[in-house]
Amino acid sequence: MADLSTSAADKKEKEFFTHVPQEAPGFFLKGSHQYDWGLKNRLSRVFNPRDGRTVMLAFDHGYFQGPTTGLERVDQTILPLEPYADCLMLTRGIQRSIIPASTQKAIALRASGGTSMVSPFEEWEGEIGDKKFKLGRPGFEPLSNESTALSIEEAIRLNASVLAVQVFIGSAYERQSLKNLTDLVDGASRYGIGVMGVVAVGRAMARNAQYFRLATRIMAELGANVVKCYYTDEGFETITSCCPVPIVIAGGKKLPELDALKMSHNAIQQGASGVDMGRNIFQSDAPVAMMRAVRGVVHEGLTPEQGFQMYQDLKAGG
Ligand code: 5RP
Repeated sequence: MADLSTSAADKKEKEFFTHVPQEAPGFFLKGSHQYDWGLKNRLSRVFNPRDGRTVMLAFDHGYFQGPTTGLERVDQTILPLEPYADCLMLTRGIQRSIIPASTQKAIALRASGGTSMVSPFEEWEGEIGDKKFKLGRPGFEPLSNESTALSIEEAIRLNASVLAVQVFIGSAYERQSLKNLTDLVDGASRYGIGVMGVVAVGRAMARNAQYFRLATRIMAELGANVVKCYYTDEGFETITSCCPVPIVIAGGKKLPELDALKMSHNAIQQGASGVDMGRNIFQSDAPVAMMRAVRGVVHEGLTPEQGFQMYQDLKAGG
């Protein structure tokens, strides 16, 4: 793997040009200036053309983990957040059953699936001396065994702006998940619908800048119009700089609110085009207050501390 290689031929230092923005002449969004009208228009619904940023609300977790904490009743917990989102990231089941068809929000529709939290884990048996042991087979990652889970006709019926597909670089099903991505890109681009590649993380997949540079760049090279990945404390600006299309960050596990706001702020400062956040919003003690504070940081230039103050004020005000 070139990016992981330490061979003599690869000794030249990488140059990420992190202080030189990539140009997109005549359009507001990175990497998107040469698309056709329909795709540009759909991306303009996801990303605000005023600042090129987005606050996507992710609540598609049920597609592999069922009624996730905070999503037991999407009608009760997510509908109050809808007015503050630019885009809703969800499954077709929740879209049809819960989200009013009158919504004006962009739709990021989950288009891969087929595994669950309890997918059988392939075991690997070994022996040391007289002791027998069982381990998960390295790199097997049963959750990575996904297929595409949506037709393009269904995406059109549901008026999706982008389709979301999980990609598992470094897992046993890497090739299959990349094929899911390229199949969806081929289908969606016929109709001017975008595809968002989602970097999956697992046991065999390190959460560092080197891994995320590799994964995000592969997805962009294979046609993803938007890429979703995690924030890294070290070197995040190198990930955004060498990915030619917009990156949005996932929130990940629930953090204290101030930490989640700091992460959002740092990601934006280091070249992210927005957040696609779930648990850090809907698992907050005051989800509407948190959602509005995240908006403040992403769209209104609030510092994390100002955003946190906003969160506390709104929370106190009920
Ligand atoms: C599933 C997803 C989720 O939508 C997303 O990553 C979850 O958001 P968060 O981490 O902020 O709860 O892509 O893997």
